[in-house]
Amino acid sequence: MRRPIIAANWKMNMNPGDTTEFLKSFLSLIPGKCPVDVVVAPPFVSLPAAADILKGNINVRLAAQNMSDHDAGAFTGEISAMMLKELYVSHVILGHSERRTLFGERDAFINSKLAKAFESNLKPIFCIGETLAEREGGKVEKVLERQIRKGFKGIEAKQVGETIVAYEPVWAIGTGVTATTEQAQEAHAYCRSVIADLYDMETAAKVRIQYGGSVKPTNMAELISMKDIDGALVGGASLDYRSFYEIVKEGIEQVSSS
Ligand code: PGA
Repeated sequence: MRRPIIAANWKMNMNPGDTTEFLKSFLSLIPGKCPVDVVVAPPFVSLPAAADILKGNINVRLAAQNMSDHDAGAFTGEISAMMLKELYVSHVILGHSERRTLFGERDAFINSKLAKAFESNLKPIFCIGETLAEREGGKVEKVLERQIRKGFKGIEAKQVGETIVAYEPVWAIGTGVTATTEQAQEAHAYCRSVIADLYDMETAAKVRIQYGGSVKPTNMAELISMKDIDGALVGGASLDYRSFYEIVKEGIEQVSSS
């Protein structure tokens, strides 16, 4: 079994004060060594507050929600990988559908960010997923294949194996509509088959694929029980520490029952 990875994507929520409060309460709920990887992704300005609390913690890692594909220079408003690393950041969310649709990020741009993340030793959480129109138009596989092929262009198998892919159907994000476990499992298995095709079976078997889109404490158990679902990327339900902990707990239970 791949080690589950459950990540909180706080989007543009949680200022530094909220972040400190959340993490203090959340950490107190996790006793000992957690058998699943837990990651939190606060907005940039809250990263120092999170780093202060998480430094030295063995259970919770820190992610950024985005990153520049450049090292330094005249890129107003951008944040580099090295800046993130100074703040104890180990993971970075790349290609989130909100970045793709609201901020015009394209596959090639996301590919260059992925390359930069690997070069900088940051672990990418690489988001992919189809829109409702694409699903209704029967284009799910075509879209996922394109996003994976273009996203991983030029990336070596070893790095791909360490990537966390987040399958997030755009129609399920923030809508309260979750993909059925069957729809999610089917998409995850398909993504894995594309990776096997592009690289090899061994690499595909290593990649952890998270599901994202209205994950809640009530649907996590079923999702995480599926063969190709290795965790979750959680938006809305991660803003409350108790609810995020309930989701993490389902991951822990899945590990102990398997
Ligand atoms: P949601 O967001 O859980 O609020 O649907 C998930 C995401 O966008 O990563």
